[in-house]
Amino acid sequence: MLTSAGEVGVRASTGRPAPRASPRGKVLTRPNLPSARHHRHRRFGAFVPRGSTPRVEDWTVEDSASLYSLDAWGAPYFAADAETGRVVVRPLGDDADALGGPPPEIDLFALASDARARLASDGPLVVRFPDIACREAARLHAIFDEAAATWNYGAGSLRSVERGTDADASSADATSADGSRPKPAYQGVFPVKCCHDVELLRALVSSGAPRAFGLEAGSKAELLLAVAVMRSCCFDQTKKDVQTPYAPLLVCNGYKDASYVRVAFEAAAAGTRVALVVEKLSELEPILERLRETRRTKTKPKTKRRSTPLLGVRVRLGTTHDGQWGATSGDDAKFGLGARETLFLLETLRDAGFLSELRLLHFHVGSQVSDIATIKEAMRESSQMYTELVRLGAPMGLIDVGGGLGVDYDGSRGWGGRASRNYDEKNYANDIVAALADACARAGIEPPTIVSESGRAIVSASAALVFQIVSTDPRGARGSRQGNEYKRGAETVRDPFATDGETPFTEKEDEKTLTPTLEALRSMPPSRFLLHNFREVARTLKTAETANVQEAINDATQFRQEADRLFKLGIMGLEERAEAEELFCLTRARVFHIANTRRLKKSTSQYFLPVDVQTEARRPAVWYHANMSVFRSLPDIWAIQQLFPVAPLHRLRERPNAAGAVADLTCDSDGRVDAFVGAAAKGVEDVFSDAERGAPSPFLTLHAPREGEPYLMAAFLVGAYQESMGSAGHNLFGSPATANVFLETERRKKDLQKTKPTHDSARVSFSFRLDSVRGGDSDVVVSLRAGDTNADALRGAGVDTESIVAWVRGGGGDTSIDEANDAALLAAVDDVLRESTYLESRDERRAR
Ligand SMILES: Cc1ncc(COP(=O)(O)O)c(C=O)c1O
Repeated sequence: MLTSAGEVGVRASTGRPAPRASPRGKVLTRPNLPSARHHRHRRFGAFVPRGSTPRVEDWTVEDSASLYSLDAWGAPYFAADAETGRVVVRPLGDDADALGGPPPEIDLFALASDARARLASDGPLVVRFPDIACREAARLHAIFDEAAATWNYGAGSLRSVERGTDADASSADATSADGSRPKPAYQGVFPVKCCHDVELLRALVSSGAPRAFGLEAGSKAELLLAVAVMRSCCFDQTKKDVQTPYAPLLVCNGYKDASYVRVAFEAAAAGTRVALVVEKLSELEPILERLRETRRTKTKPKTKRRSTPLLGVRVRLGTTHDGQWGATSGDDAKFGLGARETLFLLETLRDAGFLSELRLLHFHVGSQVSDIATIKEAMRESSQMYTELVRLGAPMGLIDVGGGLGVDYDGSRGWGGRASRNYDEKNYANDIVAALADACARAGIEPPTIVSESGRAIVSASAALVFQIVSTDPRGARGSRQGNEYKRGAETVRDPFATDGETPFTEKEDEKTLTPTLEALRSMPPSRFLLHNFREVARTLKTAETANVQEAINDATQFRQEADRLFKLGIMGLEERAEAEELFCLTRARVFHIANTRRLKKSTSQYFLPVDVQTEARRPAVWYHANMSVFRSLPDIWAIQQLFPVAPLHRLRERPNAAGAVADLTCDSDGRVDAFVGAAAKGVEDVFSDAERGAPSPFLTLHAPREGEPYLMAAFLVGAYQESMGSAGHNLFGSPATANVFLETERRKKDLQKTKPTHDSARVSFSFRLDSVRGGDSDVVVSLRAGDTNADALRGAGVDTESIVAWVRGGGGDTSIDEANDAALLAAVDDVLRESTYLESRDERRAR
């Protein structure tokens, strides 16, 4: 049921303004966004009052927002729009726009539809909002500054300072060149491994330049990327601060060989402020070798000293935690030096005359720390470690607390265990600052600048994976009907979940089948008899009260098993078995419907839901087949049972009625999403205890897709690790298309002027206008990149596509296959190599 018309395309043909050329020569269109009137409305009246929201089927967007926990995990970036019934994105969160108007909002459904139409693609689309990541980075910085102010952290004198542009460390480095700035209490770096998207990295670094925001690399390739991004984005702006505490840091983590060390040293010499962190003692030798070389050049007369990287040491803390990565912390940690190794490093540096280069202490307790107690413990230990290093003679000056700041993926504020966290950014910053302030005060030393490498906390909210549902299948009776209707004999029967769980029997059928004579019953073959009884169960459920719902479930389960047995014994034919499957599925859909819509109260015994009904109500009844690969785009769902919020992007004013789980395109039963954010079965929340809140739900209540209208859903908060970890290996589904969406604010325009453009021939950019309240329209710029073609995916797997074509051609060889067929096969291979790896239905399929 793939449909080709993107919503925006449809609107365009109904009288929307024709595309116009922007001053930059790009095409400006106006997609299906809320009108200026709507914005004005929101500006002055907040949202439309609840009472006046148009109600469709007695269901409002507030109901949807609650069902999908949208406000809990989405605020302040994602919301349900009361008038359009769609998800909107506020890239600036709840901040006013540049002109003081209400926060700009983007209709995600319209945007995704437009992007899909432009790419002529039905495949998955990663929509990124780098503005969100930039805002989160700035917010974290402000929170640390606030914590520093609270604890009077780092103000005033500094004993340990970093090296300036001159050869030796000097206390002058404690202030800026003009003497006005104190050494920063906090600096952020973004771990590149979280997201390799160049546009996102450039946005983070250039918008973070005033805060000296830098990058962290964990491999040679990441180092090359980080050096390039930092030089292109902030080198000019920070030239005067290069190698001072006001320049962005490039933290070099990960295992290092001589080449890694070489690039780090050359980048430092060329002006980037590099911190080279020793993770293993074997890395020391190439580092010392470079340092000795630099020292030799320094002694030559008239030679200006080349700047060298600051040295750091990554320590292995004893602190462990029970989060997802808890097992890799403490003594079992893969990275970092233990106490003895740290001492050895110190002595080696001292002996070599380079102890003065040791400036940074680094640790990382693991990602997604869900319990603040872990942070507190780690800070106690690392603060102590820091003061000890200073006591033993290292100048230090920086402590890098790594990543680990958790994300509240399910919005449960701690209930959700690993999917959540029991603290917020303020707690986090306060605990870090307080621990260091205490330890340094007791040791009588200046507190260090705090560096953090928060990855997921900065980028998670900035991306959503949009995917289209291409078909649905009742679970347990898969394939027994096609589309929303199916034929049984001469009858056309509607899909049950499209009819709110009504049983699909026609009156005619009822008469014929439900009142057979006793004689007819006696002469009925066993399989017909079983079906007769089964139909009776389904029919009874049509008017069922809860009292006999349990009985119906019991009977249906038994009949289904008996039908399978009769089929195995050759007593039942395929058609009859199909009907038994059908009836079972209908019973389950009906039971779910009863459980979901009657909102039965536990307190009223007459309405108490039988346990099997509750169990049934917790199972997905329908598979929603999504045009995407979990392995490629949501790998953490498969690998570590990560919970991401999932919701439809539209139809939020319609009551959804199917208990759905999402199945991807891959030929692997693991390729599915069947754990969702939200109390189990929100629709029947009265039945579940508080203790279950925060527990993932095994299904999401969804709408029945409509013929000819794409049903678009998205997995949210997927900005960290999903694209970088996802692999095309499984079934060779390639990388999805991406749309990077920027608000064209004044600041960004300035940033863009300063930074050099990216050269990415595979990207197409387009812009559209976003109405804002006070006349000052702001552009939204969307940078699109098509997903991998089949040729890309094959090349990624090491298969040379030219060989494929040659082999296909050669296969015809001297055999008797006629040439026309060979040529047709070659043409098909050639075409499909250039097409998307995902399902496509559009006539104007785009081949690259
Ligand atoms: C060394 C290091 N720094 C930073 C991070 C980022 O962690 P997070 O995404 O939890 O902030 C990681 C991730 O595991 C890491 O290994």
